[in-house]
Amino acid sequence: MASGPESGRAAGAAPTRRRFVRVAAAVAAGSAGLGVGLGRLLGVRPDAPPVVAEPTLQPNAGEWRAVVASKDLPEGGVRPFELGAVVGFVERTGGQLRGVSGVCTHLGCRLALDAPSRELNCPCHRASFAVSGEVLRHQLPIALPALPRLLVRESDGVVQVFVPSSGAM
Ligand code: FES
Repeated sequence: MASGPESGRAAGAAPTRRRFVRVAAAVAAGSAGLGVGLGRLLGVRPDAPPVVAEPTLQPNAGEWRAVVASKDLPEGGVRPFELGAVVGFVERTGGQLRGVSGVCTHLGCRLALDAPSRELNCPCHRASFAVSGEVLRHQLPIALPALPRLLVRESDGVVQVFVPSSGAM
């Protein structure tokens, strides 16, 4: 049965994976659109400081899914994962786990991990993000939103990400 990331969530709503993907796309598109609008309004240059206030993608109904064994994500480690429509990266820094979307916030291209530099690179228009989600650099004439974060936890020696339920499509 699908459930929220915490107990007590209403079971009547029927959010789906599609909705989650739409929300993710809307966040990216909306943020990009907002970036364009605000950028023009405020005269923000393409080389302006990155946006760091990224939202957390949280499906209304979902499940915790294993993405990597804890032992395979040591301090400083980064691992990509793919769970159906959800792709992303998990990382451990300072003992803290973090997960981010693996989809570029510009036009949705899939990001590639450069493990030595701990950067997520977009092959489409050469934007680069930190594994924490912040924008490192790009050459776009608009502000580029940071990567949305994903809910991550560690349980019984496994790193898990909260994603839409597989049966909720
Ligand atoms: S889609 Fe990633 S920079 Fe354009």
